[in-house]
Amino acid sequence: MIPESFVQDVLARVDIVDLIERHVPLKKGGANYSACCPFHNEKSPSFTVSPTKQFYHCFGCGAHGTAIGFLMEYAGVSFPDAIKELAQQVGLQVPEEDRPDPARQAQSQSLLEITARAARFYREQLKGSPKAIDYLKSRGLTGEIAARYGIGYAPEGWQGLRSVFGEQYEQPALVEGGLVITNDAGRRYDRFRDRVMFPIHDQRGNIIGFGGRVLGQGEPKYLNSPETPLFEKGRELYGLHQARQSIRESNTVVVTEGYMDVVALAQFGFGAAVATLGTATTATHIQKLFRQAERVVFCFDGDKAGRKAARRALEASIEHLADDRAVRFLFLSAEHDPDSYIREEGLIAFQRALNEATPLTDFLLRELRSDLDLSTAEGRARLVFEAKDWVPRMSAPILRAQTVRSLADLAEMDVAEVERALGMEPGKKGRPAPRRLERQSVVTLTRQLLRLLCARPELCVQVPEDVVLLIPDDTEREVLELLRERAQSGTVISLSALFESQADAGRRNLIADLLTTSDEEHVGEEDAADVFADTFRTLRRNAVDQEIKALTQRSAVGPLNSEEMRRLIELQQHKQTLKSGQKPPV
Ligand code: CTP
Ligand code: MN
Repeated sequence: MIPESFVQDVLARVDIVDLIERHVPLKKGGANYSACCPFHNEKSPSFTVSPTKQFYHCFGCGAHGTAIGFLMEYAGVSFPDAIKELAQQVGLQVPEEDRPDPARQAQSQSLLEITARAARFYREQLKGSPKAIDYLKSRGLTGEIAARYGIGYAPEGWQGLRSVFGEQYEQPALVEGGLVITNDAGRRYDRFRDRVMFPIHDQRGNIIGFGGRVLGQGEPKYLNSPETPLFEKGRELYGLHQARQSIRESNTVVVTEGYMDVVALAQFGFGAAVATLGTATTATHIQKLFRQAERVVFCFDGDKAGRKAARRALEASIEHLADDRAVRFLFLSAEHDPDSYIREEGLIAFQRALNEATPLTDFLLRELRSDLDLSTAEGRARLVFEAKDWVPRMSAPILRAQTVRSLADLAEMDVAEVERALGMEPGKKGRPAPRRLERQSVVTLTRQLLRLLCARPELCVQVPEDVVLLIPDDTEREVLELLRERAQSGTVISLSALFESQADAGRRNLIADLLTTSDEEHVGEEDAADVFADTFRTLRRNAVDQEIKALTQRSAVGPLNSEEMRRLIELQQHKQTLKSGQKPPV
């Protein structure tokens, strides 16, 4: 572990504006700098960098962080490497004895090295294997595309990789990396034999796993790397590394099911395709995709499995929609997959089909009404009933409102009735999208208190202990405690350093939110006093109310004992004092 204090030192010396400006042209406007966000595709700038807070934030995609976070995201380096690079820039030496967990780093380093070496071997083997080359040719691939995707060939024979790794073949790392399997008798053999090899890259271009296809017929048709410390199927998308440029240019990404789909689409001139890796689309995939492009089109096979995959993709997307993002589904006819489609129909037809793909809401409504007879009251009622699992979860408020309207038309009900039936209060928002809508959500009193304390750390000491304990939200309470500790410790570290010191995602998000919303200029002495008074009073009053309620409920079950009775009277007195605005007796 790198010591906390060192991270703080580095952050205190680095200037985030300097750093970011080297990669992204920044424009000064008021107190902050802005630019088009480097982490998602956009035409008007919503990426801002604050020199005072030493923090960046994108109002479009929600990306945020310190100089360290920027380097990690932008250059795709690890936390320790980002620290190392920044430290070097400001002339600091990373403390020797506290290097990041060397065993772990060495492990993933060597796994990366091992997969890279194996991939090189497979590529070389392809050159010497006419039958593998013929197979790829028979699938319409040129050498150029094969090279672009690093396609290779794993030779026949049980221990092909021994020629690359020699004695290392016996080491645990090859098993851990998924390249070698140990049988019950303890003998080792290559996982991939006599297969065309598709290396799987992460976003930075490291090879983290493989998919291997039999040449021609055979079972299993595809064999994939198992999950390893490098490779997690639910996070990775095949071809994303190669597709990035095309995705940015077209602001569209097409998600397919197969390796060959991605490669064939590229072969025929469509570069913006990726594939899930033998798993259903996950929410992580969706979030990753939306960072790259505004339009995501799922293009699955026309068969039954493809339709099922589409449903799973719908399921994964529904809570991550936004009104400025679009998800569509392209359903090919039953005999086609994207590979065969573009081969037979060509690029133009494929692009036309993409433009005409079914919008997510249409697909949703179609799925909901399938098997229902909407000419009957029962069928229409069932439609709304089925929608309950889906519509309230949609995270894009405008889109959700429109879906409710369509549903109302189909069900022959009015919008308010449908909203009530769906458990959505008419006129009110449904469940908001976690991050994107955060800024619009109601600012609670405690949040306001936290913002105030960020802007005016010296006030932290004035927050009484009992109030801290009464804050209902765990994360808010923990962050408030952090702020108090920070204020009491004498050396006030910056908020961005506090952000960097936290591993918990909830706390990090909250601190990031505070960083982007607390504004020093606007907190006058009187405002501060008001926020304090309001928050303390409300928290205390809520606590008293809750205890009264508990006791009252308890009294319904049986008479209160004298102790309980005394407490109830005491509480009611507290409540009176709180109402009259006086400081309560402790
Ligand atoms: N898959 C797998 N294991 C299998 C079959 C399929 O992991 N035994 C995964 C692979 O990622 C494959 C995807 O599911 O790319 C789609 O499978 P399928 O449609 O059967 O293959 P195609 O992509 O059409 O492959 P090909 O055109 O080479 O037959
Ligand atoms: Mn296919």
